[in-house]
Amino acid sequence: MKKWYAVIGDPISHSLSPFMHETWFAEHGIDAAYLPIHVEPSQLEKSFEAMKTLGISGFNITLPHKQSIVPLLGKLEENAMQMNAVNTVNLVGAEYTGSNTDGDGFVRSLLVHSVDKAAKVLLIGAGGAARGIAFALKRAGFTDVTITNRTYRRAEELATDTNASAITLIESEERLADFAILIQTTSVGLATGEALPISLDRVEAGTLVADIIYNPLETPFLKKAEEKNCITVNGVGMFVYQGAIAFEKWTGIEPNTEKMIQLITEKLG
Ligand code: ATR
Repeated sequence: MKKWYAVIGDPISHSLSPFMHETWFAEHGIDAAYLPIHVEPSQLEKSFEAMKTLGISGFNITLPHKQSIVPLLGKLEENAMQMNAVNTVNLVGAEYTGSNTDGDGFVRSLLVHSVDKAAKVLLIGAGGAARGIAFALKRAGFTDVTITNRTYRRAEELATDTNASAITLIESEERLADFAILIQTTSVGLATGEALPISLDRVEAGTLVADIIYNPLETPFLKKAEEKNCITVNGVGMFVYQGAIAFEKWTGIEPNTEKMIQLITEKLG
């Protein structure tokens, strides 16, 4: 019988998840459909009930529902509990289980670049995305993570939760040359003309600079990093790997991520 998957969000029409998962389903000869469903916040509970009644096999959750879905789920994986946010739901037995593959997805996209887990990492931002990445870095065995954020208190809180250190933005700008890996997780760069979340004046050439934003492919932050001869990593890898981990949960199959990164890059280019 054909299986049914979906992504729910508001807005949803620009999501690349249906293209990605339907491509993978087709590549593996799996009889399944993956639909984008527009769900307004006030309709989340009813929509989830409807999907359960119809027997959906799994779904992704995007903005603004990642946190509000949490109390509706019977079971959560540890990564979702740590973040108090869910991006993937999977029907296990008769129960819908929530997990969060964003942080692990980012870390997989980083590991492709053969990074050293003892390298000094600077995480810029302390919101939901940074939280997922900080926990995933810790799980993956990164030992030297420092967090900086416009609101320093949030950096301190996240550092306490993940056994990392916290420094102020000014201090991080001064000490930028100490770090081998910079990870930009704030929303700065989504809109054109915004200032950089931190100044890259003191970054060393050869530093790996990653941004979780994938649209635009090159944020002003990555552009500046490139001018400084850094190795740049955009958010396409994170997007594809978070989807790949969800796909693995649903089907038990590891999809072709390299080809998907190429396809998505072409679509956004
Ligand atoms: P998300 O779930 O996408 O991470 P969030 O939880 O709202 O979203 O967090 C947004 C992050 O971007 C925060 O680290 C925020 O900094 P504050 O904690 O100081 O608010 C950061 N951010 C947003 N706009 C910013 C700006 N203009 N300059 C610097 N940091 C900014």
